[in-house]
Amino acid sequence: MRLCVIGCGNVGRLVAKNRGVLGVSLKFFDRHPERCFEVCKDDCEVSTSFDEFLEGCDLVVEAASPEAVRQYAPQVLRKADMVVLSVGALMDKELYGRLLRIAENYGTSIVVPSGAVAGIDAIKALKNAGIEEVQVITTKNPKALGVNVEEKTVLFEGPASEAVKRFPTNVNVVATVSLAAGKEATVKVVADPSVDKNVHEIRVKSKAGELYVKVTNVPSPDNPKTSLLAALSLIETLKELVKKQRIRIGT
Ligand SMILES: NC(=O)c1ccc[n+]([C@@H]2O[C@H](COP(=O)([O-])OP(=O)(O)OC[C@H]3O[C@@H](n4cnc5c(N)ncnc54)[C@H](O)[C@@H]3O)[C@@H](O)[C@H]2O)c1
Repeated sequence: MRLCVIGCGNVGRLVAKNRGVLGVSLKFFDRHPERCFEVCKDDCEVSTSFDEFLEGCDLVVEAASPEAVRQYAPQVLRKADMVVLSVGALMDKELYGRLLRIAENYGTSIVVPSGAVAGIDAIKALKNAGIEEVQVITTKNPKALGVNVEEKTVLFEGPASEAVKRFPTNVNVVATVSLAAGKEATVKVVADPSVDKNVHEIRVKSKAGELYVKVTNVPSPDNPKTSLLAALSLIETLKELVKKQRIRIGT
């Protein structure tokens, strides 16, 4: 299987490192091709033209930016399934609807990994009973949020669709939770100099019961914005997609 990755940053490097576990051949594309040549050395392909990149891809991973989802997903979904990591882009209802129609017409799929949170399985299940309320509180060190504050500060309170615009590469979880719930989460983003982890708290109220999940994630060594759990979640998702699962656990 040929796995094609858009983005040769932190996540792109991680996919390259796990190439052996996944048992795939790899091809990369980035607007800074030199980053891909660094990631690849001699054991994968690098394309400098997007059209050439898409040739022969069995599965495409977007590991670049919300802008890259808008730019490339319509073309990708005409050819192959796509794992989207910059999930915030899918909070744009027009783009979401357009990508869904293309996927339906071309028989392809969009896959969104659980990422940096737990409980996506339960949220999806609760949706069947009707979800009344979804809240996400994300607390990170100010450095990870790109701000400089000396005490615990609420940076944002509002709907998920606004949160992803304010923090396009920092709060993918609020988009994943909202999409899983089929209901836009209300979000609080907090900068706290006393924390060195990425903390996400999710509260869901539904007719079938209530859910409270708190994850305290170690940031990736190469990129404090990304939790290590999110990176590991991608690898697990890719394993499930590239290898036939004889036993499947979870919703
Ligand atoms: N959902 C999740 O669980 C999850 C987990 C990790 C990262 N992410 C998201 O995945 C994306 C990548 O994360 P990262 O840590 O590897 O970022 P990164 O900044 O380390 O690397 C991104 C790479 O993509 C390239 N890129 C960006 N936009 C592009 C475009 N339009 N065309 C071509 N190349 C482009 C950049 O040049 C860069 O090399 C981010 O949007 C991040 O928020 C999501």
